[in-house]
Amino acid sequence: MMKFHISTFGCQMNEHDTEKIIWVLEKIGYYQTENRHEADLIIFNTCAVRKTAEDRVFGQLGELQELKRRNPDLIIAVCGCLMQKDDIREYFLSKHKHIDIVFGTNNIHKLPQLIDRHLRTNEKIVDVIEDTREISENIDSNRKYSYKAFVDIMYGCNNFCSYCIVPYTRGRERSREPESIVREVENLAKTGCKEVTLLGQNVNSYGKTLDNKISFSQLLSLLNDIDGIERIRFMTSHPKDFSDDLIDAYKNLEKLCNHLHLPVQSGSNRILKLMNRQYTKEQYLEKIYKIRELIPEITITTDIIVGFPGETEQDFLETLDLVEKAKFDSAFTFLYSIREGTNAAKMSDQVPDDVKHDRFQRLLDTLYPIGLESNRKLLNSIQKVLVEETSKTDDNILSGRTESNKLVHFLGNKNLIGEIVNIKINNVKTFTLEGEIV
Ligand code: SAH
Ligand code: SF4
Ligand code: F3S
Repeated sequence: MMKFHISTFGCQMNEHDTEKIIWVLEKIGYYQTENRHEADLIIFNTCAVRKTAEDRVFGQLGELQELKRRNPDLIIAVCGCLMQKDDIREYFLSKHKHIDIVFGTNNIHKLPQLIDRHLRTNEKIVDVIEDTREISENIDSNRKYSYKAFVDIMYGCNNFCSYCIVPYTRGRERSREPESIVREVENLAKTGCKEVTLLGQNVNSYGKTLDNKISFSQLLSLLNDIDGIERIRFMTSHPKDFSDDLIDAYKNLEKLCNHLHLPVQSGSNRILKLMNRQYTKEQYLEKIYKIRELIPEITITTDIIVGFPGETEQDFLETLDLVEKAKFDSAFTFLYSIREGTNAAKMSDQVPDDVKHDRFQRLLDTLYPIGLESNRKLLNSIQKVLVEETSKTDDNILSGRTESNKLVHFLGNKNLIGEIVNIKINNVKTFTLEGEIV
C-alpha cells in the first residue's frame, strides 16, 4: 500500500489543484497520509506570488533531505506555480538534488505516467507544459468537504499587473465551456453540495475566449437554476471589468451570496497606473458606492499592497483615505515583494523595509476599527450560517460562515456540519462573530 503526503501553498486555485492531485493518485491506488514520515511519495504544491511563499517551500524541501537519506525509495515531487517559472525551477533543482519529479499547473493528469517513468528508470523527471491553451477536462477532484466546493471556471490571467507573477505561472486566460461547468455543479448538487465558489483570476472576463460568447453574469444565472445548490460565491473580480450586470446579478439571483471581494491594491492614482491596474481611485470608489447603495447588506473585502516601488507617504495616505471611504469589511494586506520577471521588479526606487513595515501597521490600524464597526451592525441580527467545522479544541463549538462570508462561532452538535442554521449574533469581534442557534 503506497502512501502520499501533500502540502499546499498559495491560493484557492492551488487548494483545488491539490484536490485534483489527490483524485488522480487515489485512482492509481495511493492513500493519503497526514504524516510525512510514513509517506512513500511527498508532494509540494507551491505558490510563487511572494518571496516569502517561495522561501517557505525552499526551506521545507531542504528538511526532506534527511528523510530521503534514510529512505532512498522515497519519491519527492514538486509542482504548482513556482515550477512554471524556468529560472526558479532550475534554481530549486540545482540546490535540492533530492527532488525526483517536477510537474506544472497544466499537467496534473499526467502525474501517474511521471511516477511510473521515475519508478522504471529511477531518473529525475521534469515535465512542465508551457502551452496553456489546453484545458484538462478529464480529471475529477477528491474534494475536502462534501457541502462546499471550488469550481474552476477559467484559468490564467491576461492582466499583467506590474507586480504580479501569476500571468507567468498560470499562462494566458482561457474559460471553461459553460456546459461543462453546469454539469460539474449539477453533479456536486447531487452529492449534497450546498455551496460552490467559482474560481478564476478575473471572473468578470469569463467567456471572452469561448467561441459562443457568454458573460459571467449569464453563467451565474445558469448556476442559480441548479436545484440543491444554495449558495454561489466567486473569486476574484477585477475592478476594471466589474460592471452593472453583476450588480443586477446580486439583486436578481437569490443564491448569489452578498459578498464581493474586489482587490483595489492602492488608493493612489499614480501607483495604480504604475501597477497597470487600469482604473483610478475615483472609479473604484464610484463602483463601491453604487453597489452599497443598491445592495446595502453586501460585505466588501479587498487586497492591498503597501510599499510598491516609488510609493511615497502621500501615495500611502491616499490608500488610507480610500480605506476610510470604501469602509472595507476586511482586507488581505501585503508587503510588496519583488518578483523577478515582472515589470515592477525592474523599477529602481524600491521602498525600504522599515518604511514598508511602518505603513503596513498604520494600514491595519485603519482597517481594524472599520471592520469592527461593520460587524457591530450585525449585533442581535439573525444570520443564516452554513456550519463548517468544530473548533480544534472543543467539539461542541462550531463555526461557519454567514452569506456575507463572516466567520461565526456558536455552540452546537457536530451533526449540524454541512447544514444551514439560523444564528442570533450576540457578540462581535474584529474578525469573528459569536452567536447562538435559534
Ligand atoms: N487575481 C487576483 C489575485 C491574485 S494574487 C486578483 O487580481 O485580484 C492575490 C493578491 O496577492 C493580489 O491581489 C495582490 O494583492 C497580492 N500580490 C500579488 N503580487 C504581489 C507581490 N509581488 N507582492 C505583494 N503582494 C502581491
Ligand atoms: Fe495578478 Fe493582476 Fe492577474 Fe490578479 S489580475 S492574477 S493581480 S496579474
Ligand atoms: Fe495562486 Fe500563488 Fe499560483 S497565489 S495562482 S498559487 S502564484
